[in-house]
Amino acid sequence: MVSRIIQVRSFDLVVFGATGDLACRKIFPSLYNRLMAGQMPKDAMVIGVARQEMSTSEFRELINQSLSKYLDSSLLREDLVKIFLECFKYIALNVKSDDNWSALKSLVRPEKVRAFYLSVAPELFGKIAFKISETGLATKASRIVIEKPLGTDQDSAKELNDALRKYFREEQIYRIDHYLGKETVQNLMALRFSNVLFEPLWNSKFIDHVQITVAEKIGVSGRGMYYNKSGAIRDMVQNHIMQLLCLTAMEPPSRFIPDMVRDEKLKVIKSLGPVNDSEIVRGQYWKNANENYFFDVHDQKSRVESYVALKVSINNLRWAGTPFYLRTGKHMKNQLSEIAIVFKNLPHSIFDAQNSIAQNKLIIRLQPNDGINLKTNIKDPGPGGMRITSVPLDMTFADALGAKNRDAPDAYERLIMDVIRGDQTLFMRGDEVEEAWKWIDMVVKQCSSSGKRPIKYISYSQGPEDAEQLLVSDGRKWRNI
Ligand code: BG6
Repeated sequence: MVSRIIQVRSFDLVVFGATGDLACRKIFPSLYNRLMAGQMPKDAMVIGVARQEMSTSEFRELINQSLSKYLDSSLLREDLVKIFLECFKYIALNVKSDDNWSALKSLVRPEKVRAFYLSVAPELFGKIAFKISETGLATKASRIVIEKPLGTDQDSAKELNDALRKYFREEQIYRIDHYLGKETVQNLMALRFSNVLFEPLWNSKFIDHVQITVAEKIGVSGRGMYYNKSGAIRDMVQNHIMQLLCLTAMEPPSRFIPDMVRDEKLKVIKSLGPVNDSEIVRGQYWKNANENYFFDVHDQKSRVESYVALKVSINNLRWAGTPFYLRTGKHMKNQLSEIAIVFKNLPHSIFDAQNSIAQNKLIIRLQPNDGINLKTNIKDPGPGGMRITSVPLDMTFADALGAKNRDAPDAYERLIMDVIRGDQTLFMRGDEVEEAWKWIDMVVKQCSSSGKRPIKYISYSQGPEDAEQLLVSDGRKWRNI
């Protein structure tokens, strides 16, 4: 089976911060993959912009090295790499000064789709948007792409949105949350809204609770400076986990079009209830005196969390009474991202009492081994009466879809092509981001007013013991990481 690829219109993509880590690690390798898949036209142009003085051929060499570093060598065909590198141009530009904007302007082509990818520190977003507009580079149809951190609280997110909206309409602004580009995250919508099976059960009448887990084995060394200002709540819950929560909980939009999907997500965020002190557990990883969170962030007194678990309520008709438990952490036992829908117990069992009947569970696994697993009860095979046992109906997408799954674009590939296509479904709207911050601000305030320090948890474990208690005290249990 081969995926159906529709080539996008030819484009000029201007990447600010073109020599930086995100561009070299994600943006350029993603574009190469799309060229190889036949989706990126060969006459597309990518203009790298950065402060560093270098020629276009030196820049191409940098791209070449990035491809070798971040892509499997089996993907690098010499003829294709040559075509790919020819798409690149470079302009040295200090975005804070006026030099060279005209050189950039002379390169872009009026008839092509034009997109600006701001792979730079967020403090520069407003300034670059202004310059793009002032120099006449922006057209009515051009797009601007930005990525987190989109503010650090509601006020700064609003300020950022206002700064961009001075020069770009909301339809031109693409705010990336790379989780929305993951295949399984999109699959969550397909699963819910294209099967008759799930929707009738998708509410508090049948669902006992939901667990959303994003656990990582990695720590924060190397990005301690950023992380210690952010912490798990701002770094992961405000964006990625919030998006997973929205897609799990939202009402079906009447059509799958960007604003209808985003309207429904916004309603979920607006329905989130307050979280009290006993519903938040924060932790910091600790392996030994030399390997621990404090060491990684160079701050022995840090009160910033590398782990958080939260019990969240959604105050609407569909979900009242069904808690959503969220957790994310670094230095966890395994890397695991999943959404577990835990159904209620049967109201009555016809089988004798020795059969304890397990709750049905629907597990949507994002990574690793993306797929779906439905825990179902069946008869234990063999003689000896009617004994009920729980078995997984397990479908990893790799097994079910073969090459189609293997060849599916990764998150950045998908999202960059959506920018060129002009499809905003998988991007966050400004009001969504601001509303998510409003709720996060409340959580952060709750943490600081409680005066509690994050508790230590053992590196590469299930997380802090208190997080286990958060569910145990409700008569529930986290799934193993
Ligand atoms: C980023 C966070 O947005 O997402 C990181 O800043 C985190 O802290 C990363 O490690 C996780 O992304 P993924 O795709 O590896 O699950």
